[in-house]
Amino acid sequence: MDKRPIGVLDSGIGGLSVLNKVKRLLPNEDYIFYVDSIHNPYGNKTKEELIEIVDNIMNVLIEKNVKLVIVACNTASTQVISYLREKYSSILFVATEPAIKVAYDYYPHKNTLVMATPGTIASERLMLLDETYHQDRRTLLACSGLAELIEQHRLKELPDHLDNLFLKIERQKVEVVVLGCTHYPFIKEEIQKSLGHPVIFLDGAEGISKRVEFLLEQQNLRNSSKHKGSLSFILTNDKSQTLIDKYLDC
Ligand code: DGL
Repeated sequence: MDKRPIGVLDSGIGGLSVLNKVKRLLPNEDYIFYVDSIHNPYGNKTKEELIEIVDNIMNVLIEKNVKLVIVACNTASTQVISYLREKYSSILFVATEPAIKVAYDYYPHKNTLVMATPGTIASERLMLLDETYHQDRRTLLACSGLAELIEQHRLKELPDHLDNLFLKIERQKVEVVVLGCTHYPFIKEEIQKSLGHPVIFLDGAEGISKRVEFLLEQQNLRNSSKHKGSLSFILTNDKSQTLIDKYLDC
């Protein structure tokens, strides 16, 4: 029995798409979500800048005595997860990555579109995933500016923005969409509308939930309380509260 909380971090409300799923699987745990909107997007930061940002977040989370940290951001995971694991070796980390393996395992013959931030698309981790789980009919699309629109709640601009991004692909052929940024699950409807037909969506949240459960079991760190756990937020921008109210538990 370990009552310490689980920390979650992201460059904004995207992490909520992960946290919503983890909470459903592990409702008795306590959670603290560091919503770092002030530094959004992480995608245009250098590795050194990101290290400084996550070090500051870790100082706060360590003060809260977290037992495990979910890096609920693909961009940060691809850049700094090794650094975090090495520097904070007494804490367990769970990282996020585009669900390319899931697409490969379940839909190897379908036309797959991987949407992610430019930082994630250009990362070594993505290149490795793309090679390891090679699929002929896979398109990688760097979605510049998309996470920012969601974070700033500029939803009216989404249709035009998506239409522009999709000019680079053959949208009528897309059958599976890998949502490689934790902000994107909140705009599935808009993505589907812009593609013009129903598609299968995949994201990493399910895998992350299972991984968190596995690690807590394995290390005997489960909070076995019979009561529902607590949820608190650390906001770097007051405006995030509206988005949290909108996307929490959806
Ligand atoms: N939610 C982050 C991700 O999964 C957003 C990226 C960013 O801040 O650039 O990649």
